[in-house]
Amino acid sequence: MKVLVYGSGGRDHCLADTYGDSQHVDKVYFAPGNPGVLYTPKGKRGLIERVPIRAFDEVADFCVEKKVDLVDVGSENPLGEGLIDLLNQRGIRTIGPRKEYVRLESDRAFTDDLLRKIGVPKPEYRVFDNPDEARKYVRNIGYQVVVKANGLAAGKGAIVCDDVSDAETAIETLMIKKAFGESGSRVVIEERMYGTEISFFAYLDGTHCMPLRMFAQDYKPAFDPEDDESIKKFGGNLNTGGTGCYCPHKLVSPWLVNRIIREIVNPTVNAIYNDLGWAYKGAIYFGLNLDPYDRLGVFEINVRHGDPEWEVIARKLSSDLFEIGTAVWEGTLDQVQQVWNKQHYVDVIAMEGRSKASKGWNKGYPGRYGKGHRILGLDKIEKGVTIYFAGVDENPEKGLVTYGGRVLHVIAGDKTLEAAREKAYRNIRLITFEDHNNSGANCLRFRNTIGL
Ligand code: GLY
Repeated sequence: MKVLVYGSGGRDHCLADTYGDSQHVDKVYFAPGNPGVLYTPKGKRGLIERVPIRAFDEVADFCVEKKVDLVDVGSENPLGEGLIDLLNQRGIRTIGPRKEYVRLESDRAFTDDLLRKIGVPKPEYRVFDNPDEARKYVRNIGYQVVVKANGLAAGKGAIVCDDVSDAETAIETLMIKKAFGESGSRVVIEERMYGTEISFFAYLDGTHCMPLRMFAQDYKPAFDPEDDESIKKFGGNLNTGGTGCYCPHKLVSPWLVNRIIREIVNPTVNAIYNDLGWAYKGAIYFGLNLDPYDRLGVFEINVRHGDPEWEVIARKLSSDLFEIGTAVWEGTLDQVQQVWNKQHYVDVIAMEGRSKASKGWNKGYPGRYGKGHRILGLDKIEKGVTIYFAGVDENPEKGLVTYGGRVLHVIAGDKTLEAAREKAYRNIRLITFEDHNNSGANCLRFRNTIGL
């Protein structure tokens, strides 16, 4: 069987890799992909092949020509631009929701109103199109809030506020300065939640729902909580949408999984299928919080896997992803068995850190960061440690270089969380992002507290 994964980030690389593990699959095309994949075992032996095409009609032509059996679209932007709809019109089997259904992620207010209507627990919220009204609200509300861009913002459009001044700055950033473009013209202002974050996924096939009985924890802030100096330098602990992850989450238990399915997943999926009348096919992500009083609440729904959560959940999943994907397309998810291995996994993300540029210092991700730093040390990585690439490029002279802020994922599995953590950190320390402007200094930065 031949699979095509559309995307270029770490989550997409992980999808390609996991399809490559399937007993049914002998070729995975990765379009437009990233050059990092050619530095991995499956890329080197041609099981995963990068196809640097991006335009949707070219992708459709390629799938027809190569007789691709299944296409998986990993991220919200191509889904929202209608890639699934186009491929289906051309008779190509896919995983991922149609354009219309991406509204669950691209219109937060729509989804929040739906959840409120069906009684799924979520924090108090109000929606604003007018920045003055939004300011008035946060001055009077009395409790802490999160200010969110209503539209797509690559997982980064939620600003967590400590006080009124933070909230006003967030309104300015999203609504006036338009840090995320038109996505911030409308904002959702939501009560800030405390407790433990849970990232929970399910697959839908248009009729059935297969909740994954395993969940992960994402680390969204850019810096460790102890890193006061960086937090001060950047004017707050910015939300990057994921700097690392671990799985199983310390709270995974059969009773909590059952509770999440009963309180959150089933009513939401029922509303998608029956109230909205949507034959949604693909992965769906529930961003949840469990508060100190043991109450669950939804803070986001996304129409795809989480990144980096998928990178650890996929490692833990022993079921065949091609069989799951086929069942999603054919509407037979009720016949799929979930099998999970016994390992613990930790994903630490290597980010672009401080580097010297011609006009001074770049502070590093999530602020301004350098590019084109040679990635060294990949040959030293221990066997059994997985690298998924994200913001990388190929330079004719230097080979693999950094290109984005979140550059690569180092994923280690072991019998205990402590051993997996130790292995992930031991290996990420073997990698260098060489700063050509600063005597070869290492520009790589990572958080130290993933999995703690
Ligand atoms: N990890 C957060 C996201 O994928 O949106």
